[in-house]
Amino acid sequence: MPNFNTIRNDFPLLAREIHGKPLVYLDSGATTQKPQAVIDKINYFYTQINSNIHRAVHHLSSLSTEEYEASRQTVANFINAKSTAEIIFTKGTTDAINLVAFSFGEKFINEGDEILISEIEHHSNIVPWQLLCERKKAILKVIPVDDNADIIMEEFVKRLSAKTKLVAIAQVSNAFGTIHPIKEIIKKAHKIGAKVLIDGAQGIQHLKTDVQELDCDFYAFSGHKIYAENGIGVLYGKEELLAQMPPYQGGGDMIAQVTFTGTTYAELPLKFEAGTSNYVGAASIAESIRYISEIGLENIEKYENELLAYAEEKLLKIEGLKIYGTAQQKSSAISFMIKDIHPMDAGMILDKLGIAVRTGSHCVQPGMLRFGLTGTIRASLAFYNNKADIDALYNGLLKVKMMLS
Ligand code: ALA
Repeated sequence: MPNFNTIRNDFPLLAREIHGKPLVYLDSGATTQKPQAVIDKINYFYTQINSNIHRAVHHLSSLSTEEYEASRQTVANFINAKSTAEIIFTKGTTDAINLVAFSFGEKFINEGDEILISEIEHHSNIVPWQLLCERKKAILKVIPVDDNADIIMEEFVKRLSAKTKLVAIAQVSNAFGTIHPIKEIIKKAHKIGAKVLIDGAQGIQHLKTDVQELDCDFYAFSGHKIYAENGIGVLYGKEELLAQMPPYQGGGDMIAQVTFTGTTYAELPLKFEAGTSNYVGAASIAESIRYISEIGLENIEKYENELLAYAEEKLLKIEGLKIYGTAQQKSSAISFMIKDIHPMDAGMILDKLGIAVRTGSHCVQPGMLRFGLTGTIRASLAFYNNKADIDALYNGLLKVKMMLS
């Protein structure tokens, strides 16, 4: 078992102070801090091998290209994709979902078809489908959640029909921490011939993920949520589906041959990678995967679950505090309110104490509305957090109460 008490030393930013207080970083759901290994990798790239990929015969270009394609292999191995043809580098999860909404939508969605999403999806897993439905006169249907923020399975099954072409759902809810039963959802959707996209933005860094075992059709995640750079993400798609889908964007690298009378496209995965990809970002993902694989995702999951249980138990000792999101299976995020205290006010006082949490709707306005809220205070955990961080939050919230009640 790794030593989770010293692991935070791998993350230089966590050593800094905010407003003269040691930083307590509880906003990893928004973005994670970066380990020195990832920072070193980015530094190595720019000081030793930087050059554009796939374009030139000179030495630096082949080094960059080798790193980029090796990163793709690392990602494929990490999520157990069948081949690197199934790994497309994108700008992030949002970009990946938009790619599917546009390209899969173009090919496979027709008037009257239905797309299912859950009631607590991130805006990134709502709006691209709304845009697609507008373009294609398709119908977006919402699967309700219960008071714990758990999907109501009977309601999901009720909404499945021959018209359902796609189910798009998060692996883990960013706002409520719910781990959705995606394996069961995928199985049920496949039974009626629908495809499934999993938004893994809040899952990939916390749960061991095997796309073949899940049998999902698409899986999307972001680099910056898994201790790598911003502006890079991954779309996994089953090869037989990706092969049938038209390009999302046109430009360099995605073509085979261009003439003024027509263009042929590159083979997978490059068909979906128009323009110069964020190849340094891709290398940073590969490095972060190496880093967390050394710690072990099972160890990370176990440690984070213990910390989450400790945090929830401790926070519930605060009078007037209510946690929203009490699903059977949870990961990382604790969304809560304190009676008569506006989340923004609490967030600002916590900040003065060096404690970083997110406040607001967390880009989940419909999900907030489901619970009669416009926003919450959210603490989101990573394996570099520890009980002392939770105790600091607890003490900070007592101070908030004292000042505002
Ligand atoms: N989606 C990110 C969050 O949950 C930004 O905070």
